[in-house]
Amino acid sequence: MNAPVEPSVDLAPAQRQGVDSIDTPALVVDLDAMDRNLQRMADFARKHGVRLRPHAKMHKSAELARLQMQAGAVGVCVQKVAEAEALVAGGVMDVLVTNEVIALPKLRRLAALARQVQAKGRIGLCVDSAEGVRRLAAIAAESFSGTPDSLDVYIEIDVGQHRCGVQPGPAAVALAREVLACSGLRLVGLQAYQGGAQHLRSVQARREAIAVAADAVRFTLTSLQQAGIGPLRVTGAGTGSFLLEAASGVWNELQAGSYLFMDADYAENEREPAQPAFEHALFVKTQVVSVTAQHAVCDAGHKSHAIDSGLPSVLPLEPGRDLVYANGGDEHGLLRPAGSNRQLPALGQMLWLIPGHCDPTVNLHNHLIGVRGGLRQGHVERIIRVDARGALT
Ligand SMILES: Cc1ncc(COP(=O)(O)O)c(C=O)c1O
Repeated sequence: MNAPVEPSVDLAPAQRQGVDSIDTPALVVDLDAMDRNLQRMADFARKHGVRLRPHAKMHKSAELARLQMQAGAVGVCVQKVAEAEALVAGGVMDVLVTNEVIALPKLRRLAALARQVQAKGRIGLCVDSAEGVRRLAAIAAESFSGTPDSLDVYIEIDVGQHRCGVQPGPAAVALAREVLACSGLRLVGLQAYQGGAQHLRSVQARREAIAVAADAVRFTLTSLQQAGIGPLRVTGAGTGSFLLEAASGVWNELQAGSYLFMDADYAENEREPAQPAFEHALFVKTQVVSVTAQHAVCDAGHKSHAIDSGLPSVLPLEPGRDLVYANGGDEHGLLRPAGSNRQLPALGQMLWLIPGHCDPTVNLHNHLIGVRGGLRQGHVERIIRVDARGALT
């Protein structure tokens, strides 16, 4: 069980303090930038006639998931049953676990969630093995007492990531037949997520990877159709490639998640010209606590931000005054000047880091501090609980 954490709060105007009051290190969301990202993606999905089901493993917050649904998302994705439990407890009633679940106790928890949301929404799950379907069918038989279509099932196919997923074509058809044979389960779609394409830097490389994935999906849909199965929904895509999936005419549901916060790593991708521009909305606020002749030291190390996708970048103090962050261990970062202006930040200076990877960074914090009006002059508007922090099972 996670330790109880204070719930989200909207601060009354009289309680709102300036950004200067935020103690460091702290994970801060620029709410204005986040709202623009939210709207840009919702508009994109509407314009292209595709459903949007953002991946909530990124922010792990029921409040932000509800916000995405208010803006038009059909529901959200998660990767873990415990994440689904945290979001349903926070009022999010349509959740797809974009993952395989094999342990019977976890499947029982998922079935309990499906019963809980019932008429208000849907719970879904991916499968990629006959054994996985048999286990799911056993739990459905014991949990749904004959009620048909109680849990949504998606066949995951491997479209090039080579992680989970059955082979496209006949193997997917065989699995679909197994799902259809179980009345408690509703066969809804295919999951086709090409995770390996998301961080390919060049537009051309991403286009090639998604073209291969699209062929695999088309082959599978044709095989299903020949077997009299379908039409099925096709869900997948992430922030690096969603424009291509949307344009393919093959995918009809997008799972992108990071667009809401945009980390430093995604900013390295060459952008598709037609893709909406997303802004950095997630920052670690940090303070300079020591200065030497060579560098300044700040109080945010890798207990404050994940470094699996590279070290954070530093928001420039002013145009042309760039700093480079170097690893200083768990609790510290080393800041060195880059470019022509060699001036180090002073002791006590507040700085803003842009994390390399937003998902594991959020998972290090209990709360996100929501700031309105910009990082220099704004105020704290709300404290957003990371409801599914540490929800790993
Ligand atoms: C299955 C699945 N779908 C969608 C996403 C969303 O990707 P992103 O947060 O990069 O937009 C992920 C991320 O890892 C994923 O694993």
